Formats: sequence, structure tokens, C-alpha cells
Amino acid sequence: MRTPIIAGNWKMNKTPAEAKALAEALIPLVQDAPCEVVLGTPAVNFAAVSEAIRGTNIKLGAQNMHWQPSGAYTGELSADMLLAAGCTYVILGHSERRQYFAETDEAVNRKALAAVKAGLIPIICVGETLSQREEGYTDTLVAYQTLTALTGLTAGQVAQVVVAYEPVWAIGTGEVATDEQANETVGVIRAAILGQYGDAAADAVRIQYGGSMNPANAGGLMRQPEIDGGLIGGASLKAEDFAKVVHFDK
Ligand code: 13P
Repeated sequence: MRTPIIAGNWKMNKTPAEAKALAEALIPLVQDAPCEVVLGTPAVNFAAVSEAIRGTNIKLGAQNMHWQPSGAYTGELSADMLLAAGCTYVILGHSERRQYFAETDEAVNRKALAAVKAGLIPIICVGETLSQREEGYTDTLVAYQTLTALTGLTAGQVAQVVVAYEPVWAIGTGEVATDEQANETVGVIRAAILGQYGDAAADAVRIQYGGSMNPANAGGLMRQPEIDGGLIGGASLKAEDFAKVVHFDK
């Protein structure tokens, strides 16, 4: 069975002092979590959060990285830097990075390869816009985004990564995919992985849903057989709300 994984994506929120306070508030609330718990914080907070969560069941995540190991890439961070700062996970290809920073499927692929090579676990985000869904391209698009991002990884490596299905129209809008819609599209992603990498990888790979997931809808989404977790934006910024999502089984 796949271990569920609930990850907060704090996006561009929280100073180091605020991040420390949020992490410390979460520790007692999620210590008996039925899943893996990840905090995807801005890089400026890595030191404060990794210090706060040391020895707990919470893991640290980054929100982006560069694919090169080092070099003249002003403003960028490498996989080794994230690892050294205590990260276990790195969110890659979030739709906000694709939309505002022109990140392509090929760039996401380079980043995924570099992350896996360095020993980070990528959380690879895929998802369709509203017009793409309305025009009937959802399945083709998410399968293409997923397989492009994973190109060059072995089946064994694919088994270890996390994919996040985040319909763009559900991000930060309060509009959430129905349980059935989310389950169906996550199933499409798993089927694409099955076709390319085989049974073992498809059975092992964890696929999250993300997009306006909150304490009220987490239970229904998490009961879907294909959905292995959540990538949580707004609701991850308050300890009580995030803890309720983490305890989706209550
Ligand atoms: P919201 O939960 O705020 O809709 O954001 C989802 C998201 O983008 C997580 O990566």
C-alpha cells in the first residue's frame, strides 16, 4: 500500500519568524498523522523550519530548484543546496511557475532528473486550465506533462517520485474538483505511468490532488482509491486547518 502524503505549499508566504511559529504550532497537532507530512516553505525559511522540525515526523520541502549542480545562475538554488539545507522534497513544475516564469515541460524534466540524481524526491505538478478541460484535452495533457517530466528516469526511480494533479482552475479559487473528477484524472496519470514504466512503478508512485483542498473536502478526496495525498496551498498557512487536512481520516 502507498503511504499517503500531505504537503503544504506555502508559496510566497511567511518570514523566518512566522515560519518557525507555524512549524512549532504544527508539531503537536500532526505528531500522530496517518500520512507523511511535508512543509514546502520559501528557501529563506529552510534554516528556521528545519531546526524547528528536527526529530519530528515533519519533512522539509522546497518549491523550486535549478537543474545544474552549480554555476552562473543568479538567484537560483541547486539540488545539493536544498539537500544541505535539510530538504527531502522539492515541488517542481507548479502551474504558477509555468504561468509566471515560463517554465516548460522540458525544464521540469531537467529539474526532475537533477533532483532524483541528487537524492531529493520531486513532487511534480501537472494539470489543465479551464479552457483545456472544456475543450476535452485534460487526459491527453496531464499524461503528456507527466511522461515528459519523467523522461529519462528508470521505473525504479519513477516508483519513488510524487506527482501532484493540480487543475489550474481549482488553485486558489475555492473551486475544487469533485471527488470523482479528481480520482478519474489521477487514474489517467497512473495509467500513463503504467503504460510507460509498468505495473510496479504505477502501483508504487504516489499521486496527490491539489487545488482548494481544505478541512471540509479533504476526507472525500482522500477516500478516492487513486488519490494518495494532497498538495495544499491556502489551507496550509494556518496550523489548525493544515492539521485537519493531515487528519483527513478523522
Ligand atoms: P490552494 O490550496 O490555495 O488552492 O493552492 C493549491 C496549490 O497550488 C498547491 O500547490
